[in-house]
Amino acid sequence: KSLNPEKKYRPYLHFVPKKNWMNDPNGLIYFKGEYHLFFQYNPNDSKWGPMHWGHAVSTDLITWTELPIALYPDEHGTIFSGSAVVDWNNTTGFFPDEPGIVAIFTHHFDNGVDNPPKQSQSLAYSHDNGRTWIKYGDNPVLEHDRKIDFRDPKVFWHKNTDKWIMVLATGQTVSIYSSVNLINWHFESEFGTDVGSHDGVWECPDLFELAVDNTNESKWMLIVSIGDNLHLDQGSRTQYFIGSFDGSRFHVEHETIKWLDYGKDNYAGVSFSDIPTTDGRRIYLGWMSNWRYANEVPTHGWRSEMTVPRELTLCKYDNSYYVVQQPVKELDQYFTTREKVINKQVSKEVRYAFDELYGMITLVLENQGATKYRLDIHHTESNVTSVIIDMEESVLTLDRSRSGVTSFSDNFSLHQKLPLLQTEQIELNILIDSSSIEIFVNGGELALTSLVYPDKTCKEISLHTFNGDVIIKEGYFSKPIS
Ligand code: FRU
Repeated sequence: KSLNPEKKYRPYLHFVPKKNWMNDPNGLIYFKGEYHLFFQYNPNDSKWGPMHWGHAVSTDLITWTELPIALYPDEHGTIFSGSAVVDWNNTTGFFPDEPGIVAIFTHHFDNGVDNPPKQSQSLAYSHDNGRTWIKYGDNPVLEHDRKIDFRDPKVFWHKNTDKWIMVLATGQTVSIYSSVNLINWHFESEFGTDVGSHDGVWECPDLFELAVDNTNESKWMLIVSIGDNLHLDQGSRTQYFIGSFDGSRFHVEHETIKWLDYGKDNYAGVSFSDIPTTDGRRIYLGWMSNWRYANEVPTHGWRSEMTVPRELTLCKYDNSYYVVQQPVKELDQYFTTREKVINKQVSKEVRYAFDELYGMITLVLENQGATKYRLDIHHTESNVTSVIIDMEESVLTLDRSRSGVTSFSDNFSLHQKLPLLQTEQIELNILIDSSSIEIFVNGGELALTSLVYPDKTCKEISLHTFNGDVIIKEGYFSKPIS
């Protein structure tokens, strides 16, 4: 039986639009019991093109209902990335009766091949929970004469100064602006000229405060996506900075570059606004693709999916701060236990049947003298994705060169490597869907997100050890609930 080609690779647990092209998540917000996911969308093709904001809603962050397009291009240009806020106190004057949502986005105006495009920031607002939108009559609200790359506004309410703060990607820096009404913006500061990775254009910043686990401290985290650089294998990727924010300036507290994800397929991620303080979670999701090959991935009629939503927390380790990411707890409802393994000594090899549409595998592995071990995810007889732990190098490698279709890009087969902090005992949490593998190491202190295009999700899992044994201290194999 041949499968409808549009169904092939469609994920079970990850958001994809019904049809056509998607990139960055936009306007992530929680309002009146619904999570809203807007996204960069081309409704006319499954390749990148004139951008709109697509729209989907969810009550549990995992199952999404796609709604009609929220924002269409207009005389100021197409609709690039941006964010959304609830204007609780009617600072804009748009909401005389009841609070509603304001979207702050980039208008991208193409001036033809001979001239640089013009990017500016604009507003739209909704009185009906994001179902319909009114563009502000005096758009754009923030322009710049000199900067060509001037985009992706992320806005939040800063309590200490009673102002809206906008972080904006401006070339290879992040510029910070403030406003009392979302309409008049005042330049505060520019961050990043001499820190961080400058391998590509800076895009999609996000700035927020996070409590540090097991302390009374909190820190500010600035996320910055970095565009593709053809001289490097990684393609587009995401870095983050930890520091402080005084309402005007962000001060970074480290010189090292910190990567949010060691896989190739987590880009342009930002966090949800307005999650109630009683919940207190900072929830983030990214676009699960890479500009290097995003337009070529072998799906039909649709292209690109989002990462699983992840809760972000901060931990302190060796006097340095790390972001910890874990799939949101709502995901647990989609799984039930298939098999449990306790204290299983593995010499050379062990195999577990795992014929599921999607699955979650948690393994606590203790090394007993092995120099290397390899976990194989057998999608089919011939499609295998391997996760290799090398003790000598202290590196986890994901090899997707035999995972299925890879020929659309030479870059796709290259190994993805994650530096491990220690190798004696490792916890791996692996989420497997029909076209992706997301690995969370040691409770999420490191992550590796990777697309794969196998003929089937999974059939069997095997573990192979080299020059010594490995003990599976605990192993949980989870399968779909129904
Ligand atoms: C990031 C990005 C943004 C831009 C959008 C256009 O992937 O390049 O900077 O707003 O995509 O679709």
